[in-house]
Amino acid sequence: LSPGLLAGRHVLITAGPTLEAIDPVRGITNISSGKMGFALARACRRVGARVTLVAGPVSLATPRGVERIDVVSAAQMRDAVLRAVGDAGVFIGVAAVADYRPAEVSEHKIKKSGGSGLALELVQNPDILAEVAALPNPPFCVGFAAESRNLDEYASAKRLKKRLPLLVGNLIQDGMGGESNRVVLYDELGRHPLPAASKDEIAGGIVAHLAAMLANKQ
Ligand code: PMT
Repeated sequence: LSPGLLAGRHVLITAGPTLEAIDPVRGITNISSGKMGFALARACRRVGARVTLVAGPVSLATPRGVERIDVVSAAQMRDAVLRAVGDAGVFIGVAAVADYRPAEVSEHKIKKSGGSGLALELVQNPDILAEVAALPNPPFCVGFAAESRNLDEYASAKRLKKRLPLLVGNLIQDGMGGESNRVVLYDELGRHPLPAASKDEIAGGIVAHLAAMLANKQ
């Protein structure tokens, strides 16, 4: 990657899971570690971009030179993204945002009630990527899709539904939580598989593809 590939660009990235509170000590979350998003933040910074990283609850060190905003819930992630997106030329949604949250958050710890079950009512969270892509003057939007099967079919459908120029597809068993990944890039020209590698190497491949697409747009 050439050092100035993304010089002068502001790249906004979401990473990690979100945690949707049930009560003060419990919540709904997922196994995203944030590693893929943090690797992308490092890769974008390395090639000269100004990087803002909106991170869900993860235990990772902040990449050098990157502005990090920590959030917990999808609603907080959305607010942080909408505040930072103004001058962003690129938005990359790597976060595994919870699709649903409890309709109500209990103020106090929920007590076990003798013998009977507990029903939680869930409501849908806003789709941050779809909202950013629908802004009047949107940044170049890159989506991610984590699937457990039928990657080509589901990932291509997500790209078209959210009208994204670029989407990165991966299988949950290949990439979620661990140090390595295997991804396929989907754009209007078709599918571009990258070899299985460390998340840092994969991030480099994604940034190279993204930079080539940005250069073609100008
Ligand atoms: O964090 P790691 O352990 O390194 O794992 C990386 C990863 C597997 C989480 C990552 O590579 C990945 O695939 N992220 C997307 C996870 C996902 O399942 O996304 P989705 O299919 O629910 O959503 C599609 C896209 O919309 C994503 O870009 C997502 O960030 C975005 N989205 C989804 C829901 C929502 N409410 N708001 C969003 O912005």
